[in-house]
Amino acid sequence: MLRGRLLMSFISMKRKYQTFIAVWSVFFSAAALAFFLLFASRKFAVTRPLIDRLPGFDECSRPNDTKVSRIPRDLAIALLHFATTAQIPQQTKEEINVTLQILQQRRPCNFLVVGMWHDSLLWAVLNHGGRTVFLDESQEWIDRMREKHPQLETYKVDYHTTLGQADGLLEIARNRRSTDCSPNQPIERSSCPLSLSPVLPRGLLTVEWDVILIDGPRSYKNLSFPGRMSPIFSAAVMARTRTAPGHVDVLLHDISRSVERQYGEEFLCLSNLVSSVNDLWHFRIGRSNSSTFCPSSS
Ligand SMILES: *[C@@H]1O[C@H](CO)[C@@H](O)[C@H](O)[C@H]1NC(C)=O
Ligand SMILES: *[C@@H]1O[C@H](CO)[C@@H](O)[C@H](O)[C@H]1NC(C)=O
Ligand SMILES: *[C@@H]1O[C@H](CO)[C@@H](O)[C@H](O)[C@H]1NC(C)=O
Ligand SMILES: *[C@@H]1O[C@H](CO)[C@@H](O)[C@H](O)[C@H]1NC(C)=O
Repeated sequence: MLRGRLLMSFISMKRKYQTFIAVWSVFFSAAALAFFLLFASRKFAVTRPLIDRLPGFDECSRPNDTKVSRIPRDLAIALLHFATTAQIPQQTKEEINVTLQILQQRRPCNFLVVGMWHDSLLWAVLNHGGRTVFLDESQEWIDRMREKHPQLETYKVDYHTTLGQADGLLEIARNRRSTDCSPNQPIERSSCPLSLSPVLPRGLLTVEWDVILIDGPRSYKNLSFPGRMSPIFSAAVMARTRTAPGHVDVLLHDISRSVERQYGEEFLCLSNLVSSVNDLWHFRIGRSNSSTFCPSSS
């Protein structure tokens, strides 16, 4: 009898013990599996080729060095494009190098490019990993670029200005500097006739752009072309009302044209000029609450 009871209690203890072991072994296996998956996925992330192999392609027989990454897919595609195109970019090698140096230091950036040309793909790739947004006023040109480079983020802009209004608009901006054309009025709330706010999607107005390249819209020969007054004014306001840390690099092309030069001096300021290379000005503009765009104007 006693032996029987002792046996029973021994069996029930053993059962409890087995249940305990079973619960913990399940727990440990799950933990080990989770750890393995985490490790495997990390390992996978490191060794995963950036240009994904299609089924049927084996790895080459060269020794593996996982620290050396393959060139990114977008860069490989851009190299192929530029190696086989006869189209000459809008800017000279020295001019392109200015933006290259900035992006090499700051990338990945929020990079706003006004105007699309044969060099658009280059800008996007130099800002690898960042966001590069292109604005253009010609639907025909945008369609062509979208077909050629569908990976680019592009927006059509219907500018409210024409080159013929450049002098009048400058006068208006000067007169309204303490009201609706103030340098301190965030661009999305600005009602200045030079503001891009009515013509850009709202989402683009509130992005903290780190680098802004103004190489458009068309601003030569024809007085009914939109001119670059509005992008220049807006870039100046965006830089000065920036809330993110750091400055904004603004690049202005075609400064040999009088409107570009005049608006650049008025709103981007020669005191912010970092370099002048061929037909390109590079300004570095920090956040400021001064009520004037440039120190000299009062
Ligand atoms: C390269 O490394 C991967 C992951 O470590 C491995 O699966 C593959 O077999 C290696 N290839 C060669 C050729 O050693
Ligand atoms: C680009 O600019 C950097 C820095 O100013 C300079 O060292 C380099 O030689 C330039 N490269 C070309 C191709 O102009
Ligand atoms: C100027 O551009 C407008 C609209 O793009 C066009 O209708 C006009 O013919 C052009 N004028 C000249 C002189 O090229
Ligand atoms: C600008 O900001 C500083 C400190 O944030 C303040 O002391 C100064 O009064 C402001 N100036 C203007 C013109 O609002």
